[in-house]
Amino acid sequence: MSRAVTVHPTARVRGRVRLPGDKSLSHRYALLGALARGTTAISGYASGADCASTLACLRQLGVEIENDREPDGRRTVRVHGPWPRGLTVPAAALDAGNSGSTMRMLAGILAAQSFTTVIDGDASLGRRPMRRVIEPLARMGARIQSHDGRPPLTITGTTSLAPIDHEPDVPSAQVKSAVLLAGLHARGVTRVREPIRTRDHTERALRAFGAAVTADDDWIALEGPQALVPLVLDVPGDISSAAFWMVAAAALPGSDVTIEHVGLNPTRTPVIDVLRRLGARIDVSVAGEHAHEPVGTLRIRHGDLAAVTIAPTEVPAIIDELPVLAALAALGGELSVSGAGELRVKESDRISALAAGLRALGADIDEQPDGFHVRGSRRLSGGRADACGDHRLAMAFSIAALGATAPSTIEDAGAADVSYPEFFGTLDSLRA
Ligand code: S3P
Repeated sequence: MSRAVTVHPTARVRGRVRLPGDKSLSHRYALLGALARGTTAISGYASGADCASTLACLRQLGVEIENDREPDGRRTVRVHGPWPRGLTVPAAALDAGNSGSTMRMLAGILAAQSFTTVIDGDASLGRRPMRRVIEPLARMGARIQSHDGRPPLTITGTTSLAPIDHEPDVPSAQVKSAVLLAGLHARGVTRVREPIRTRDHTERALRAFGAAVTADDDWIALEGPQALVPLVLDVPGDISSAAFWMVAAAALPGSDVTIEHVGLNPTRTPVIDVLRRLGARIDVSVAGEHAHEPVGTLRIRHGDLAAVTIAPTEVPAIIDELPVLAALAALGGELSVSGAGELRVKESDRISALAAGLRALGADIDEQPDGFHVRGSRRLSGGRADACGDHRLAMAFSIAALGATAPSTIEDAGAADVSYPEFFGTLDSLRA
């Protein structure tokens, strides 16, 4: 994790990119596959450490999983749902590593088991807020102990969970998913209210696995208990990983990057709209749908960069891309973001670490309690930026460094392995 990488500037980026499989989808397909009555085959499973943590936790719960590399380099994961036996008591605490998605979503499944499980993670995950899942799951009947609302969690589940209506305090797809996964096992209708919509992969995946889920106005509902059928799945590329190349192409004149087989779920594509507002020229073509998820191709070219203000209601849909959007504004244009306090409880404090890192590369950025303001009024000098163990910061700083006048050192750049182990190889292949 502590590996430092030197990033040299480049005039432009050009070429075609094949992305790692979508991280959000990979977690969900593995978790639902473990609940399904048979074997689920998932090709294009995400290559990063976070999705490996989900597989490791499921194995500890007695799920047999094969993980093979195909001749084209993609991974195929086969999850043998342990039906009718079900999950079994793990011999030791589960290790979710750096992955908040693993801990929060798995908590919804563990709440419905007849045994006690401890789930822990690395130092960064140990600082992240878990009350948002503890409170609704406890209301459903699980007993959950924590370290003052933070990991490790000790979850004593029950096979007689009660359904609830829940409105999360913060818009969060992980919390919504935890409650829906618990609701799958409860007797009756569980509902989650979302005044601001978050990514809906869990709802789409549940339907693909044969469950009935409704979405009316602000409410998402399912009636439990429901059984899941196994599936053959293909995970499209991760648009949050695509965002790094979209920003590089948008920032550097003469760039032209095509990204194939990328997930284009409308709850994830607002980053495209923001990039267009910032000045990027982007062509989108949807080729089809797989498991209710739209998939297609993106082509990105540079345009004159503009000043953009992001409203608080826009933040949840672009939360993971905000660091690299800040990197774009550091290279030209201007970006003002508010209502993004959630960034402070991600893998790092993504407001202060982002501001410190971009400033170290020469950027003009102000930190605010719930956001930031970046002005791309001067050419970045390059410098030494610390990713603070955060994968998205490691990659955002590297993209900013491409447009600097001198080489930069990104400390802790190895953190990119959490979601995108191929990142630095792809970066070098696009230099032109
Ligand atoms: C995710 C939801 C978001 C996002 C995270 C992945 C998911 O987190 O930041 O990277 O797959 O559901 P929150 O639910 O905490 O907003």
